Amino acid sequence: MADQSILRVENVSKHFGGLVALSGVGFHIEKGDFFGLIGPNGAGKSVMVNVVSGLYRPSQGRVEFDGRQITGLRPDRIIREGLSRTFQHSTLFFDLSVRENIMMGVRTMASVGLAEAILGTSSAREKDQAIEERAQEVIDLLGLEQQAGELAANLPYGLQKVVAIGMAIAPKPKLLILDEPLTGLVAAEVDQVMGHIASLNRQGMTIFIIEHNMRAVMNFCSRIVVLSFGNKIAEGAPGEIQRDREVIKSYLGE
Ligand SMILES: Nc1ncnc2c1ncn2[C@@H]1O[C@H](COP(=O)(O)OP(=O)(O)OP(=O)(O)O)[C@@H](O)[C@H]1O
Ligand SMILES: [Mg+2]
Repeated sequence: MADQSILRVENVSKHFGGLVALSGVGFHIEKGDFFGLIGPNGAGKSVMVNVVSGLYRPSQGRVEFDGRQITGLRPDRIIREGLSRTFQHSTLFFDLSVRENIMMGVRTMASVGLAEAILGTSSAREKDQAIEERAQEVIDLLGLEQQAGELAANLPYGLQKVVAIGMAIAPKPKLLILDEPLTGLVAAEVDQVMGHIASLNRQGMTIFIIEHNMRAVMNFCSRIVVLSFGNKIAEGAPGEIQRDREVIKSYLGE
């Protein structure tokens, strides 16, 4: 039977000196899933994303992406395999326009899918044109045409988050990891950002989201893993997670 997993995390630990940030954590994400990772502050969620995306080397364990072992590969190699991520803190170039930010996403993350168009063409002009065309596609996809010429610094916070997603999807990833894309957003912005993420998922992109916004997580995710103090304490569908006594005790509250 063909393996339907896009991401397999096996027995991953990460130590920083004496601090155990992750302790033997494992889970699988199926192709096309909308997968959630939740847990209290300091649980190890961002460390997990950093291990999966190649920023941190795990102290133990392995990570497989789309059937290939990626443990220890450099972040740029992992992006080229088709795994892209956003960061918990803004990584926008505030003094560049929305369009220029998205073009940075296309350039710095030239992926397998774009390699032919961007790297394989002969002239610098053709390359620039391919980059501009992909940036325009992303702008259209996320409805950013009106803001395309604006400086990123001048955008409302919600739209800055949308631009960060635009940079991450520019290389056409198979898996998009979002580390707290809703932090600091007002309700209307939450709906706007989640609408875009849901639409990417409907178009076939697998989503792996880390969030504290439980309404969004419970409404959109089909499966959820819960971390607490570096340990996986639960995994299941939203209904199961909401009823889990350990999860209620360590995170959700009564
Ligand atoms: N580079 C590092 N060096 C040392 N300790 C680190 C490093 N990165 C993370 N940690 C520690 O690992 C633990 C887990 O941190 P992590 O950032 O993964 O938490 P989190 O679950 O993402 O929390 P939050 O919801 O607040 O973002 C924390 O105790 C943190 O201080
Ligand atoms: Mg974090």
